[in-house]
Amino acid sequence: MPEFDHRDPLDPAFWDERFAGNFTPWDRGGVPDRLRRLVAARDAAADPAVTAPVALIPGAGSAYELDLMCEAAWDVVAIDFSAAAIERAHKVVKRWPERIVQADFFSWQPERPLDVIYERAFLCALPPDQWPRVAQRWAELLPGGGLLAGFFFLGATDKGPPFGIDRTMLEQLLAPLFTLEADEAVGDSLPVFEGRERWMEWRRK
Ligand SMILES: C[S@@+](CC[C@H](N)C(=O)[O-])C[C@H]1O[C@@H](n2cnc3c(N)ncnc32)[C@H](O)[C@@H]1O
Repeated sequence: MPEFDHRDPLDPAFWDERFAGNFTPWDRGGVPDRLRRLVAARDAAADPAVTAPVALIPGAGSAYELDLMCEAAWDVVAIDFSAAAIERAHKVVKRWPERIVQADFFSWQPERPLDVIYERAFLCALPPDQWPRVAQRWAELLPGGGLLAGFFFLGATDKGPPFGIDRTMLEQLLAPLFTLEADEAVGDSLPVFEGRERWMEWRRK
């Protein structure tokens, strides 16, 4: 494990330093299979009868998923508050630079009401005292019927990131605001998440 100057994941400098130093053990290097299936089911480029969702990727990092969603004609924005992450995303996703935005998740405002928020390694990037804020912001950003879909790192950890969350705590956070519609094991996790990652779809009440 390399030595770093910044130790607070609430500070963009923490993430800048890790992206700049190429220490990104969470980075999948591509799109997870389960997301491919979700996007294929709502591929507006392949089927003109499908309405393209308005989507957000918070804390997008390298933003591989942005490419896939844009190819499916989704109206999607990837945001990250780290300048180094944004630089990285621009190298990965060359075709849609205007859809990569440097912004803080807690203050960013959508131009249109969202249909989908995609979660991967964002909740677990933040310490537990931030989780109620994250859940609240997800709920504010998604109108009734909107979908919070993605990967959740379950099982409490002593330290992080990644900070694992107890299943009961996740349910306490989300169940008042969302209904759980899918909860599946993940077959293609990275070692850092293996055996503890679940694909979940939470529908905004
Ligand atoms: C562990 S990385 C995950 C990146 C990406 N989602 C992935 O799956 O590879 C967490 C990311 O969240 C970003 N982040 C953390 N807090 C944020 C905030 N308040 N607003 C926007 N981005 C944030 C960090 O800069 C970092 O790129």
